[in-house]
Amino acid sequence: MIVTIDGPAGAGKSSVAKRLAQEIGFDFLDTGAMYRCVTLVCLRQELSLAESVRVAEIARSIQIEIRGQTVHLNGEDVSESIRHPKITKSIRPVADNVAVREAMVESQRRWVNGRDVVTEGRDQGTVAFPNAECKIFLTATSEERARRRVAQLIELGVDASYDEILEAQNLRDAQDTQRESGGLKPAIDAVTVWTDGMSEEEVLRRLVAIVDGKRLINNSNDQRSSQESFLLRSS
Ligand code: DC
Repeated sequence: MIVTIDGPAGAGKSSVAKRLAQEIGFDFLDTGAMYRCVTLVCLRQELSLAESVRVAEIARSIQIEIRGQTVHLNGEDVSESIRHPKITKSIRPVADNVAVREAMVESQRRWVNGRDVVTEGRDQGTVAFPNAECKIFLTATSEERARRRVAQLIELGVDASYDEILEAQNLRDAQDTQRESGGLKPAIDAVTVWTDGMSEEEVLRRLVAIVDGKRLINNSNDQRSSQESFLLRSS
């Protein structure tokens, strides 16, 4: 079974998607980490991110391994370095590069093949896995997401201005939704969850309930189709 979780930056997708995967015993795929790895390699090689053909060659040639919480890039643990603000600031041309997206989607499909997974990103329910059994669009108002980000930064001891955070976030939202290929939008058959005013625990409970509901529907569909094929065989 494939569970896709898409949504804008700051909606708390990563931590709740990871917890959901743990709770239901599925593997977890963080697709944002893959775009971050491509960006890291390009920056290390001092390659201009505007060189779309060369950036796509890099995307096709690198080895990204996601094991639990850690991300390995050509064998090196880059779990921390890919989260650096420099990567977040530079990533846009990489995520906009159509050939990079094709390579990423292809490797996401290879990775998922045959497993039970929770996969998280922007285009998982729309482009990567249009036939996923359970699609969730996790979001919150931009004001709520900015408030949460400010609270996180203050907890880390970083000075943060609400207005600046909100402005940067609105810019990222616009970039994510206006992307020509793989732009952020809920799949037509996704369940949208607004998380304003909910704790992470409450969001997790809601997601588990959605997945359980979809599993019930799938199981009864499977039973019905095996009964139908039995009836066809016996007639
Ligand atoms: O979820 P994140 O912040 O780690 O994602 C990093 C960047 O990658 C973000 O700018 C959006 C982009 N992204 C994407 O375009 N498609 C995905 N499936 C996942 C992330």
